[in-house]
This record gives sequence, structure tokens and C-alpha cells, in this order.
Amino acid sequence: MPNPESLPAAFRDVDAAAPDHIVRCLDTLQAMPAGRAYKALALDALGLTPGMAALDVACGLGDDVARMAERCGRAVGADASRTLIDRARVRHPNHEFVVADGTALPFPDASFDAVRIDRSLQHIADPGRVVREMARVARPGGVVLCAEPDWGTYLVGGPHSDLTGRVEHDWIRTFRNPWIGRELSSLLAAAGVIDRRAEGVWLPTRGFAETDLLFEVEATARRLVGHFPDAPAWLDAYRAGEATAGVLILVVWGRKG
Ligand SMILES: C[S@@+](CC[C@H](N)C(=O)[O-])C[C@H]1O[C@@H](n2cnc3c(N)ncnc32)[C@H](O)[C@@H]1O
Repeated sequence: MPNPESLPAAFRDVDAAAPDHIVRCLDTLQAMPAGRAYKALALDALGLTPGMAALDVACGLGDDVARMAERCGRAVGADASRTLIDRARVRHPNHEFVVADGTALPFPDASFDAVRIDRSLQHIADPGRVVREMARVARPGGVVLCAEPDWGTYLVGGPHSDLTGRVEHDWIRTFRNPWIGRELSSLLAAAGVIDRRAEGVWLPTRGFAETDLLFEVEATARRLVGHFPDAPAWLDAYRAGEATAGVLILVVWGRKG
């Protein structure tokens, strides 16, 4: 395994993880049709126009910052990982990136017309604090947007069995906030974000290599061998089949009141 515990644990502190593996996972998701689809939906929802300023919190490699910058005057990316910010600066040398924790954004109140976060509140200990920070740095009337999976919707393909259910359950419990998707609207409401809307995009994986890279099915099944001696046989059958999995990504946004 490239990361000591699990991929979700690695995303809590990317600088302590294997960076090339993290980059491969982020780039794979960006390239998937459903990954592109929900990111396009989220970008449109920001309502960016020339002259606006936009912020991507937990921006990772900065690709969304570059997409935002094509539509507005100034786009900034902030991420807790120095490793990822260094890579974002190399990948997108003309854009602005800062190392910053989402719970303490280094920007004045009301400094952005739109603020977004993508697949990161699932990893952060206090997601409500991050959403409040996002609302603080948005101007009144500005868009605040969150796109997160809800792991309560996670499905591993194949025939129904107790072991498949345990593989789903054991993966879900590696996340700090596995049900963050369904919590987004109330977190935004508590931060003073009004006129909230939500859309969902199903994110399916195809084939064992992609599914295992993003959802670590093999490592999860192997952790279960003590309770389920047939886990290796389950894994062989899963690998020999379609080896699909999927999760719903919820995109929720509104305006700062
Ligand atoms: C799954 S990645 C998503 C990256 C990017 N938003 C994307 O869509 O590709 C999660 C990101 O959250 C960042 N992160 C984790 N905890 C953070 C925190 N407390 N503050 C800011 N960023 C954080 C990680 O460094 C990582 O870049």
C-alpha cells in the first residue's frame, strides 16, 4: 500500500503521505467523465463573470483554480498541503496559490465574489468551521459552494452478500465525515448562506484498477480476513467481474445573506 493507513487518512495530511500516489488519484478523478461532469456543474453554479474574484479552498493541484480564472478576473487556491501547493504553482504558474488551513483563511472579510470547496470537508475535523470561514471571506450576495460525496450512498458492485456490505462499511468508516454530503445544506445555512440549491452526480468507477486506486477495495477486503475467512475468495471473484463501485457527489450552493 502506498499510504500507511488509507487514502482518506492520507488526505488529512498530504505532506506526510506519498505525493505521487495522491497526485495520481486526484488526476484520475479529474479525468473521469463523472468527475468532469460534477466539476462543470459546480463551476457554472459559481456564476463567475470577468472582473470577479474567486477562491478555491483545499484546491489540491489547482486545476479548478485555472478553470475559474478563465471566467473571472482573479482566482486564488488555498490548501493545507505545501506539497500540493508547490505542485499547483508548477502546473499553473500564472495563478495565485497559498498554503492555508481551511479553518483559518488568511483573507479579509468579504474579499471574494465566489468561494468553493471540493471533496475536502469529508477529511476535515471541523467542517462547520471551514464553511463559516468560506462564508466570512465571501462578499454579501456572493456564492458559497460545496461539492462532497455522501458515503452513505457508496455501492460496491456484484451480487448481494454480507461481505460486500462489510467492504462498503469498512471503507466508509475510514473517513472523518462520511455523511458530509447530506450535511452540506445545514452547514451552509448555519453559516448564513441563503437560497440554497443542491444537485447530485453519480460517480461510478469502471474496472478493478480504477476502482481499487480510488476506493482501495483490495486493502479493505484484506483488513476483513480475521472476521471473514472467505474475503480473499470474494476479492478474486470481484476482480474477475466488472469490479464497479460508485458514490453520489452532492453539489450544494447558495448566496451569502
Ligand atoms: C481529495 S483532495 C481534493 C483536492 C481538490 N479540491 C480537487 O478537487 O482535486 C482533499 C484536499 O484537502 C486538503 N486539505 C485537507 N485538510 C485541509 C485543511 N484543514 N485545510 C485546507 N486544506 C485541507 C488536502 O491537502 C487535499 O488537497
